[in-house]
Amino acid sequence: MGATNFQIFPEAASTIATSVDGLYAYLVIVSAFFSLLVAFLVVFFAVKYRKKDDTIPKPADEHSIGGMILEITWSVIPLGLSMVMFAWGASIYFTESRPPADSLEIFVTGKQWMWKIQHNEGAREINELHIPVNQDIRLTLTSEDVIHDFFVPAFRTKTDVLPGKYTTEWFRPTKIGEYHIFCAEYCGTKHSGMIGTVYVMNQQDYNDWLATGSGEGSMAEQGQALFNQLGCGNCHASQINKENGRCPNLNGLFGTTVDLKDGSRVRADEAYIRESILYPQAKIVAGFDDIMPTFKGLLTEDGLLKVVEYVKSLGPKNGTQTSVPPAPVMTSATEQQAPAQARPAARPAAPGNR
Ligand code: CUA
Repeated sequence: MGATNFQIFPEAASTIATSVDGLYAYLVIVSAFFSLLVAFLVVFFAVKYRKKDDTIPKPADEHSIGGMILEITWSVIPLGLSMVMFAWGASIYFTESRPPADSLEIFVTGKQWMWKIQHNEGAREINELHIPVNQDIRLTLTSEDVIHDFFVPAFRTKTDVLPGKYTTEWFRPTKIGEYHIFCAEYCGTKHSGMIGTVYVMNQQDYNDWLATGSGEGSMAEQGQALFNQLGCGNCHASQINKENGRCPNLNGLFGTTVDLKDGSRVRADEAYIRESILYPQAKIVAGFDDIMPTFKGLLTEDGLLKVVEYVKSLGPKNGTQTSVPPAPVMTSATEQQAPAQARPAARPAAPGNR
């Protein structure tokens, strides 16, 4: 993997990489075969049917069976070949766009011109991403300014990083090593310098690395501190229930389906929590009034991720995308809360923890 060795392909270091390379090879072989075939026939026919005298050639019979067979052949074969491209590409696309449940979650914020990365346990890094090998990794990405794109060639994955929105990218690294991170969306003068390194480590090294991380507590703990600091708890205190509270209860909210005032329903995922903090009037929960002030401008994207992570830690479900989950009723949500809180990464801090 040394930078001095010339390579046509970057190293294949994730589970998806070989499938992407396989599809790419198919595209190259099909394109090369037909390019060469057409070029050969152009030359061959030019020589074979070169005009030798002044007679006007007779056009072929339009209705000949031979002509029909030829037409069908050169329509059906390319159709088949391109449908293979379509089906194969769609299958890889769907795999790449659906992170497996229980992936390790990491948060990435793009900013002109750097990558800020936060681990659930609290460790933070810039332009570096430390991850364990043979583990599904799910990145939640957002931008503080313009559109960037998080690209790791060795993993064959790239995802746009958009301001005001969360996107996800997942991969399962298969080889210990160091790999390039690039920004793959032109984002200003130092776009080409918006690079970094992924360090894929064995589980033990990763645990050791995490332990040397930030002493500021887990993301959920830092989120809880912000939550208290901004006075969110005055209204959203978890003991307040739907019957007598002015605000929806956040306990057991995450991952459930919420009934809204206008009769529609929404899944309480990261994007919904984020929107409710920045634009509280956008989706009013059924039974409540439009009284929450906006927190736009009071929280950075990093801070928002932390508060979202805190709300997530109140259970019951983790943020992985499952295929259209059934709407759990609140009682089952509360029951599931205990195991969710038992995970060390998701446990909110004791009050008083800064
Ligand atoms: Cu960020 Cu290009």
